[in-house]
Amino acid sequence: MTMKNHPAGGCKLPAGGCIAFIGGTGFYAAPFLDDPQEILVETRYGPVRLLKGHKFDREIYFLSRHGAGHSVPPHLVNYRANIAALKTLQVQAIFAATAVGSLAEEMAPGHLVILDQFLDFTKARIGTFFQGEGFPVVHTDMSDPYCSFLRRELAGSADRLGFAFHSSGCYVCTEGPRFESAGEIRMYGTLGGQVVGMTGVPEVVLAREAGICYAGVSLVTNYAAGISPHPLSHEEVVEMMKKNGEHFLTLLMAALQTLPPQWDCSCEKRPEANLITTMPSSEAKG
Ligand code: HPA
Repeated sequence: MTMKNHPAGGCKLPAGGCIAFIGGTGFYAAPFLDDPQEILVETRYGPVRLLKGHKFDREIYFLSRHGAGHSVPPHLVNYRANIAALKTLQVQAIFAATAVGSLAEEMAPGHLVILDQFLDFTKARIGTFFQGEGFPVVHTDMSDPYCSFLRRELAGSADRLGFAFHSSGCYVCTEGPRFESAGEIRMYGTLGGQVVGMTGVPEVVLAREAGICYAGVSLVTNYAAGISPHPLSHEEVVEMMKKNGEHFLTLLMAALQTLPPQWDCSCEKRPEANLITTMPSSEAKG
């Protein structure tokens, strides 16, 4: 596999052809890609390494959120660089996978959850592209953060595959890297949270700001703290991902196969979305 800088211009296929997968814990490779090639995209927020390949006549990018060997913890992921890189590559849709703990009895370990809402309990992350730095003041609508069209596609595919899945779910994002206290989990449950993870925000927010359709699919790896009968460990999460992680791949491949070239959705494509790649990097610091 060769490493090279990606030429300007991004995706060669017509609009609607270019898709990205973001893999989380336990999802570090993209064995499904034809002709995989490692590429490096420079953004004003830093460089991003990803894989570029093809599948079903589409150009596909794969980004490992935690880097090779899970070396980047959730609170240190360069979310802005990742989404800015995908914007530069003219990605139209992102399918993002996350491992989660469950706060809801019916969302059992091994189940997939197609997210429809989030609660943001992160504390120390830059959660926006519009951080001054030459950008105008922008307040992006976040009523429906996840692309309704992609959600329907995923639910249809999960149904046809016979997977245990939930077509909606409210994702609580915590700062990490520690797991939650039982008290925090009780509070999140009271507020309407159904699953909990550490990486879904600000990724989904930045994708919306960049005008990229974004779907979040979570695999329940454990019941959350205080619901689980035992203390939580990263090993437990990784073990569960090893057992069920191929469900992600199967689901994403099925959704990819039936995805039309273009679609209408409610994701707001605001004019500011294009500023993210057109503004000269000298106007902003990472
Ligand atoms: N909490 C936070 N993140 C997680 C969990 C959890 O219980 N399980 C997998 N990722």
